[in-house]
Amino acid sequence: MSNLASQIPLPPPEYRHNVGAIDPKRYENPSGDLIYPTIAPHYYRKFFDFGCGCGRVARQLALQKVQPEAYLGIDLHAGMIQWCQENITPHVPQFSFLHHDVFYIGWNKESPNKVLPFPVDTQDFTLVNAISVFTHLEQDSAVFYLAEVNRILAEDGIFHATWFLFDKTDFPMMQDFQNALYINIPDPVNAVIFDKAWMVNEAQKNNLKIIAIEPPIVRGGQWVLTMARPSHPSPAKMIPSANTTSGKSASWVKRLRLKLRGHQ
Ligand SMILES: C[S@@+](CC[C@H](N)C(=O)[O-])C[C@H]1O[C@@H](n2cnc3c(N)ncnc32)[C@H](O)[C@@H]1O
Repeated sequence: MSNLASQIPLPPPEYRHNVGAIDPKRYENPSGDLIYPTIAPHYYRKFFDFGCGCGRVARQLALQKVQPEAYLGIDLHAGMIQWCQENITPHVPQFSFLHHDVFYIGWNKESPNKVLPFPVDTQDFTLVNAISVFTHLEQDSAVFYLAEVNRILAEDGIFHATWFLFDKTDFPMMQDFQNALYINIPDPVNAVIFDKAWMVNEAQKNNLKIIAIEPPIVRGGQWVLTMARPSHPSPAKMIPSANTTSGKSASWVKRLRLKLRGHQ
């Protein structure tokens, strides 16, 4: 175990449970390799982590040989942010964390804000990351935050995010303005599935094209999409149909389902 790995504690089980990643291995980076092997080292220079949770990605990145000049993680869960500030920043001072004070029925229900701008300057980040976050945003919030990604991403930056996607042509009852499926009435952002064509179009409106695609491991699971500016040399990629078998849902979704039983 590296020196830093032994110094930065693992988040407590409750917080690891919150983000659906209990296994300590998901917080480690024993080889020090790039945490996203398909993203070249120079993109990690200024790293913005939307929905950073309890610092899972931050901890892995802190253990990466190629270090960012600056990392900022934001999340609506005040307790997890405080934990990251107290337990990660002291070991890697270029890593900072801020509470993003937006409403969520589970963890931030006093907030009057549906959305808030990212608390950073325009075109300031070379890598904007959002793992399992656009999978928990209502359609209008997703539109807002895609515009924010466009605002803060450097001209030569990369946007790396995960998505639940479906094909709206299979749902003839959906109107033009309806492009998201919600699985839970008391907590609409429990899991949100966007129409594939709508999402690609919204990305294009925000000067983003898809340059790399990792299909879900199980049918209906998360797609990992890497996007860049239209000037990026890689050609735009089309999202194929997922050629996967059915399986279980993500543990974060399962956890919320259990927690929300009391509301139903
Ligand atoms: C499934 S967890 C993933 C956490 C982290 N990205 C990871 O990969 O470990 C989703 C996180 O997104 C946060 N989140 C969801 N919507 C958000 C919003 N609108 N603003 C900030 N954080 C949000 C949640 O609080 C939660 O910590």
